[in-house]
Amino acid sequence: MNGNFVYCNPTKLYFGEDSLDFLNEELPKYGKNVVLVYGAGSIKENGIYDKVINILKKNEKNIAEIAGVMPNPTLAKLYEGIKIARNHNADLLLAVGGGSVCDYSKAVSVSVNCTEDPWEKYFVRFDEPDCEIVPVGCVLTMVGTGSEMNAGSVITNEKTKQKIGHVFEDEKIMPRFSILNPRFTMTLPHYQMTAGIYDIFNHICEQYFSDTDDNTSDYISEGLMRSLIHSSKIANKDPQDYEARSNIMWTATWALNTLVACGKSTDWMVHMLGQAVGGYTNATHGMTLAAVSLPYYRHIMPYGLEKFKRFAVNVWGVDASEKEDREIAEEGLAAMESWMKELGLVMNLSELGVTEEMIEGIADVTIVFDTGYKKLDRTEIIDIFRESLI
Ligand code: NZQ
Ligand code: ZN
Repeated sequence: MNGNFVYCNPTKLYFGEDSLDFLNEELPKYGKNVVLVYGAGSIKENGIYDKVINILKKNEKNIAEIAGVMPNPTLAKLYEGIKIARNHNADLLLAVGGGSVCDYSKAVSVSVNCTEDPWEKYFVRFDEPDCEIVPVGCVLTMVGTGSEMNAGSVITNEKTKQKIGHVFEDEKIMPRFSILNPRFTMTLPHYQMTAGIYDIFNHICEQYFSDTDDNTSDYISEGLMRSLIHSSKIANKDPQDYEARSNIMWTATWALNTLVACGKSTDWMVHMLGQAVGGYTNATHGMTLAAVSLPYYRHIMPYGLEKFKRFAVNVWGVDASEKEDREIAEEGLAAMESWMKELGLVMNLSELGVTEEMIEGIADVTIVFDTGYKKLDRTEIIDIFRESLI
C-alpha cells in the first residue's frame, strides 16, 4: 500500500426496516428550524413524506420546504434553496430523496452563510467553505451515489452546460446522519434501480483501476463488486427481494464513502466523460456512465493490463489457465458487458440523445485527470465518445 492517506468519516448510519424511528433520536440534537428538501414528488406518492412530517411535528420543529429538486440539480435551483434556507434561519437541512437531493442539500449547506457566489466559489475555484455550515441529515430513497456518506456535491450550470462535482475536504460537509431503509427504495422504477446499480459498480471501478501496488483497498473492492453482481441479478428479476435490495444499498454506501479510495490515486475518467454528457443532455447519471464505460475501458486496458487481468479473474471468475494476459483481460470486460446487458442498461450515447454534432462540444467540457492508467488527449476523448455513440 504505497499511498498516504487520512481517513475520517463521521456520518452516523441507521440501516434497516425500522431505521426511520431513529430520526426521533437525531432531531433533538438540532435547533427548531428544519428545512425539508425533496424532489418532484415520489416521496408524496409512496408515503415517506407523511412519515417524515409526522416525526418532525412530533419533535415540535418549525418546518420549511425546498421541493422540486430535480435529478442533476441546477444552479438556478440552488440559488432558490439558499434563499429559503436563509429566510427560515435553518438549523438542519433534512434531505429526503436520492443523490440529487442529498448533493443539493450539501451545496445549500455550504452556501447559506456565504456571501460569495457558490458556483464561482465551489464549482469553479473548488474552494473550501469559510463560513458556518448548516448540518445536513439524509433519509435515502434512491441507491447509487453514496452521497449519504460522503462530502460530494454535483451541480449543473444549465447556462454553460457544465456538470461539476466538488468533493469537499471537510468531513463536516458529510451528512451528520443518514437513514437507510431498503424498503424505501422499492418504489424506484426499474430504470433508476439499474442506473443506480451501475453507478455503484463504476464508483468501485474508478478507484480500483489505478496504481499497481498490492493494496487492501483493491481486495475490499473485489468483494464489494462480487456482492453487487450477485445481488443485482436477483433484484433485476425480482425488485421486491429485500435481501438483494438491502445488500445493494449497503454496497452503494461503501463504494463511495472514501474507504476504498484509501491509498489509491483513483481514476474517475468514466465519471468525467459521463458528467460531460450529463451536462449536455440531462440524462440519468448511471446511464451516462454505462454508455461510455466499455469503449473507455477497452481503450485503457493495455496500459493497466495486470489490473484488468486481475479484475477478470477475481471479479468475473474468468479461467486464466493457458491464456495470454490480454485474452484474460478481454474476457473480463466481455463478462462485464453481458452483465450490463442482462440488467438492461443503456449501452450507447445515441439512446441518451447524443448526436455526432454534439461530440466536440461535449469534449470541450470534459475534465481530464491523469491519475489512472492513461491520460486521455482530446483525440482519444472524441474517439471514445464516437465509439460510445452506437
Ligand atoms: O424527484 P423524485 O420524484 O423524488 O424522483 C426521483 C428522481 O426522478 C426518483 N426517486 C428517488 N427515490 C425514489 C424515486 N422514485 C420512486 N421511488 C423512490 N423511492 O429517482 C429519480 C432519480 O433521483 P436522483 O436523486 O437524481 O438519483 P441519484 O441518486 O442517482 O442521484 C444522481 C445525482 O447524484 C450525482 C449525480 O451526478 C446526479 O446529479 N452524484 C453524486 C455523487 C456524490 N455525492 O458522491 C457521486 C455520483 O457519482 C454522482 O455524480
Ligand atoms: Zn457516480
